[in-house]
Amino acid sequence: MPAFCPNGGLFLYVLFIFVQHGIGEECTQINKDGCYSCEGRNLTYIPISLPPSVEILDFSFNFLPVLRRSVFPQLYQLQHLDLTRCHIHHIADDAFLNVKNITTLILTGNPVSYTGPHSLNSLQKLHRLVLVDTGLSSLNVQFNSLTKLQELNVGTNNIQSMALPPFMTHFKDFCLLDLHANNISILTVNDTNILREMSGNITLILSRNPILHIDPGAFRNIHLRELNIRSAFVSPDAQREGLKALSGLNVGKLIIGNYRLDKTTKTSDADLDGLCLINFEEIDSMHAGWSASEVQCIVNATKIIIEQSAIKALENVPFQRVKELLIIANYIPVTLELSHLHSLERLVAGQTNIILRGLNDLPKLQHVDLSKSRLQLHSSFRGAPNIRSLNLSENGQMYIGKNQFSGLSSLEVLDLHLTSLGGLTTQFELFKKLHYLQFLDISYSEITFRSTMSFGRLSSLKVLKMAGNYIQGDALSYLFENLTAVEILDISNCDIDNIAWKTFNNLQSLQQLLLNHNRLMVLDFVTHPNLKGLRLLEAHKNNIASIPLNILQNLPSNLSVLDLSFNPIDCSCSQIDFISWISSHQQILPQSNNILCKSLSHNSRQRTIDFDIESCIHIRRLTIVLSICAVVLLALASALAYRFQFYLRYGCILFKGYRAPRHHEFSYDAFVIYSSKDECWVLDELVENLENGIPPIHLCLHVRDFEAGKAITSNIIDEGIMGSRKSIVVVSKHFIESSWCRFEFEVAQSWLVTQGNPNIIIIILEDVEEEKTKKVFGLHKYLKKNTYLKWSTNPMSNMRFWIRLRKALMTRN
Ligand SMILES: *[C@@H]1O[C@H](CO)[C@@H](O)[C@H](O)[C@H]1NC(C)=O
Ligand SMILES: *[C@@H]1O[C@H](CO)[C@@H](O)[C@H](O)[C@H]1NC(C)=O
Ligand SMILES: *[C@@H]1O[C@H](CO)[C@@H](O)[C@H](O)[C@H]1NC(C)=O
Ligand SMILES: *[C@@H]1O[C@H](CO)[C@@H](O)[C@H](O)[C@H]1NC(C)=O
Ligand SMILES: *[C@@H]1O[C@H](CO)[C@@H](O)[C@H](O)[C@H]1NC(C)=O
Ligand SMILES: *[C@@H]1O[C@H](CO)[C@@H](O)[C@H](O)[C@H]1NC(C)=O
Ligand SMILES: *[C@@H]1O[C@H](CO)[C@@H](O)[C@H](O)[C@H]1NC(C)=O
Repeated sequence: MPAFCPNGGLFLYVLFIFVQHGIGEECTQINKDGCYSCEGRNLTYIPISLPPSVEILDFSFNFLPVLRRSVFPQLYQLQHLDLTRCHIHHIADDAFLNVKNITTLILTGNPVSYTGPHSLNSLQKLHRLVLVDTGLSSLNVQFNSLTKLQELNVGTNNIQSMALPPFMTHFKDFCLLDLHANNISILTVNDTNILREMSGNITLILSRNPILHIDPGAFRNIHLRELNIRSAFVSPDAQREGLKALSGLNVGKLIIGNYRLDKTTKTSDADLDGLCLINFEEIDSMHAGWSASEVQCIVNATKIIIEQSAIKALENVPFQRVKELLIIANYIPVTLELSHLHSLERLVAGQTNIILRGLNDLPKLQHVDLSKSRLQLHSSFRGAPNIRSLNLSENGQMYIGKNQFSGLSSLEVLDLHLTSLGGLTTQFELFKKLHYLQFLDISYSEITFRSTMSFGRLSSLKVLKMAGNYIQGDALSYLFENLTAVEILDISNCDIDNIAWKTFNNLQSLQQLLLNHNRLMVLDFVTHPNLKGLRLLEAHKNNIASIPLNILQNLPSNLSVLDLSFNPIDCSCSQIDFISWISSHQQILPQSNNILCKSLSHNSRQRTIDFDIESCIHIRRLTIVLSICAVVLLALASALAYRFQFYLRYGCILFKGYRAPRHHEFSYDAFVIYSSKDECWVLDELVENLENGIPPIHLCLHVRDFEAGKAITSNIIDEGIMGSRKSIVVVSKHFIESSWCRFEFEVAQSWLVTQGNPNIIIIILEDVEEEKTKKVFGLHKYLKKNTYLKWSTNPMSNMRFWIRLRKALMTRN
C-alpha cells in the first residue's frame, strides 16, 4: 500500500494544522462576549485565532516556559489574563507588550526564575497582580511603574520580610497586600515604614506565617482596613507577645485565632490580653481560646464573631457598641444573658447548645438566628419587640409557650423548620397575631393540622412552608382561609391524597405550589381560577398515573415548571394523549428523564418519553377499522337474517325435527295450512264437511286450536305439524302471498322429509298461475309430482272432492 501512505500522512498533517489553529478546538467562549477559556489544553502559544475583542482570557494550565512578545497576539482589549501554572520560568522584557492594557495578571504557580526589569512595568494599567507560589523570596520585584496597582497577592512564597519597596508610597489606590503563607518570622519597626506612609485603607494578610517576634510599636498609629493574623504565629507565646506588640494599631476588622485547633499547644488565660491595646471595630475569631477576662478587650467592637471557642457564658457583658454578635460552634454549652445591649441588631448563635436566659431591653435587635442550637429558651422575645426575622429552626424538641411570640409585632420572617412543635396543636393561636409575617417555615415540626385550625388573617404572608407535617381529614380546606397574599406554598410530604377545590378559594396570589412526596392521584385543582398565576407546580413522587387532556389544556398559562418525576405514569395506549403531551412539553418538565412508566418490578426504568406512541396509533387505527368491519358485517347479517327469517326458522325446525320423538299420539287428524283470507271457506266448507261427517275428522286450525301465549312458530310445529297426522294445504292466491303460509308449508315439507311420509294433502282452492307457485319453495315441484285435490263449486265434482279428501285423510301409513 505504498501509494496511500503519503496521502494519509498529509491528511494527518492538515488535521494537525487545523487543530492548532481552529479556535473551536483550543479555546471556548464562556458565557458572555469577550470571555474565553483555553484552560488545560497544553498549548504552547496563545492562538492567533482569538478575536481581538477578547477581554477575559483564562490560559491556565498550559505550556509557556518562556514568555515573550511573540507568545501573544495583539489583544489590546484584554483586561484579565490568567496564566496560572503554565510552566513559566522566564519573563522577557517585551513579554506583555501585546497585552499592555490588562488590569489583572495572574501568574500563580509558575516557577519564575527570571523577570525582565521592564516586563511588569509595561503594564501601566495593572490593578491586580497575583504572584502566588512563584518562588518569590522578597517583595523587591520590579513593578515600580504600576502606580495604579490596588492588589498585590504574593502568598505562598519564600518572602521573609514584609518591608514594602519605597516606591509603593506612590501607589495611591493600593488596598490589599496578601502575604499569606510566607516565611516572615520577624517584623521590625523599619518593615512598616512604607505601610505607615500609605493611605489608611489597606488590608494586610499575614496569616500562616511563622511570626516569632514583632517589634513593640511597629504598628503604632498605623491605620489598616483589615488585618488577618490567623495562624500567623509560631506559638501561643509568640502570639501573646505579638498581640501586645501590635499596640497602638487602628484597624477596622481584625481576624485572629487559628484555622485549625492545635490540641498540642496549651493556651493560657492571658493569650488574648494584647487585644486590649489594639483599636478595632470588628473582630473575627476562630479557635482563639477565649477566657472570660479577655472578653473585656472586645467590649468596644461593633461586630464580634466568636467561632469554635470554649466560652462558658456571655452574661451581662458591657458590649456598648456591638451591632452584630455571632457565637458559632462553641465546644461547650454556652449561656447567654444579653439584656441591655442597646445597639445589638443581629444575634447569631448556633451549632452548639445555647441556653438563652435574657433578651430584655434590646430595642434595636432585628435579626435573631438561633438555629441548630438545641435551644433552651428561658426568656420570651418580648424584650426585643423589633425583631424582624427569627430563626429557631433545627432545634429538635423545643417547648414554645402560648405567648412566646406575642409582642413581636414587627416579625416578618419566622423559621421553625425541623423544630418539633408537637404541643402546638392546642395553641395554634401562636401565629395569628403576627400581622407583618411574610415568611413562615414550619416544615417537619410534627404538627397535626386539624380542621378547627387556621392561620387566621396573616394577610402579609407570602411564603408558607409546612412540609412534613400531618394533615387530618379535610383540614387543608380551612387552613388557608385568609392567606390571600401567599405566593409560595409548600405542603410536600404531608401524606395528602386529595386536595379539595375550595382549598384555593382565597389563595389568589399563589405562584409556586410544592406537593412533592404525597399520595395525590389527580391534579384537577390546578384549573382553579385562583391558580391562573401559578408558575411552578412540583408533584414528584405522588401517585399520578395520568392527567386528562382537558386539564392539560387548561394549565395556568405562566406555568414554567411542572415536576411530575417519579410518579407511576400509566404507559398504555389509552394514555397516549398524556404521554405525547409529556414528550412535547419537556421544557417545562424538570427531570423529564425521571418521568417513569409504572412497572411491577423495581428495577425496570422505562422513561415515559421513550414510550412508543406510534405503535399505539397503529393499534388504534386497526381497532377502528376492525370495529367498522364488525358493524358492517353485523348489519349485513341482520339484513340477511331478516330477509331469510323463515329459512332460518325452517333450519331451526329441521334441526328440532331430527331430535323429535318418532312415535307419539296425534291430537289431530290434520293440520290445515291456509291463508286467513280463505278462512270463510275453511270454516264453512272444510270444517263443516270433515268434522261433522262420519267418522268426524279432527282438524287443527290455527285460529281455534293454537295455544295462546306460545310463539306462533312453536304452535305451528308442536300443535299443528307434529300434533297432526297429516297436513292439508289450501292453495290460493292468498296462500301464495302469505309468508306464514309459505313458512308452514315449507316446515310441513321438511317434516315430511324427515319422517319420510307423504302426509301432505294439497287442495287447490282457486287456480294460481304456474309462475306464482314457484314463489313457494317446493310447491311447484310438489304439484308436478303429486296428485292434488281441486275445489270446485260444481256439486258433482264437489261430492267427489269430499270423498277423495276423506279417503286421503283416512289413509294410514
Ligand atoms: C504537553 O506538552 C508538553 C510539551 O509540548 C509535552 O511534553 C507534554 O507531554 C504534554 N502533555 C500532555 C498531557 O499532552
Ligand atoms: C525560613 O526562614 C528561615 C530564616 O528566617 C530559614 O532558616 C528557613 O530555611 C526558611 N524556610 C524556608 C522554607 O525557606
Ligand atoms: C477602602 O477600600 C475599599 C475596597 O477595598 C473601598 O470599598 C472603600 O471605599 C475604601 N475606603 C476608603 C475610605 O478609601
Ligand atoms: C472602650 O471605649 C472606652 C471609651 O471610648 C474606653 O475608655 C475603653 O478603654 C475602651 N476599651 C477598650 C478595651 O478598648
Ligand atoms: C435558618 O437557619 C437554617 C439553619 O442555619 C438555615 O438553613 C435557614 O436558611 C435559615 N432560615 C432563614 C429564613 O434564613
Ligand atoms: C377571614 O376574614 C374574614 C373577613 O375579613 C373574617 O370574617 C374571618 O373571620 C377570617 N377568618 C379567619 C379564620 O380569621
Ligand atoms: C404571566 O406572566 C406575565 C409576565 O410576568 C404577567 O404579566 C402576567 O400577568 C402573568 N399572567 C398571569 C395569569 O398571572
